Amino acid sequence: MSKYEFTKKLETGNAIIDKEHRELIQAVNKLMEACSQGKGRTSMDETIKFLNNYVNQHFSHEEQLQKQSGYPGIAPHKAFHEKYKQTLKEITARISKSGPTIVELGKLNGHISVLISHISTEDKKLGAFLNQG
Ligand SMILES: [Fe+2]
Repeated sequence: MSKYEFTKKLETGNAIIDKEHRELIQAVNKLMEACSQGKGRTSMDETIKFLNNYVNQHFSHEEQLQKQSGYPGIAPHKAFHEKYKQTLKEITARISKSGPTIVELGKLNGHISVLISHISTEDKKLGAFLNQG
């Protein structure tokens, strides 16, 4: 299972956002580990719960920062967040229910890639905007 890494390329320049992205990637890696090492349901479900909660919390922090700063791209960014959270919930619920099948792990990996590319484009735009204010 591939391990995700927080690279310089993903830095937005906003300390809070970057810190949370780091922790987010850690949470993803923990889930991947729990899935691949067959750590058992309890450990897997805990990491699933943590990841979903963390994503929700982090997205709402970003949205608060956007609101406070008058970020012009807030609507599409929030729409992306909403859809992302929903799909993450669905994929992880299936993993929790039926175990980490190859198909669902593939979907999870794909969904994580979507987040990484969101960070490296949209969140970087947000970071640049916050820094110019
Ligand atoms: Fe975002």
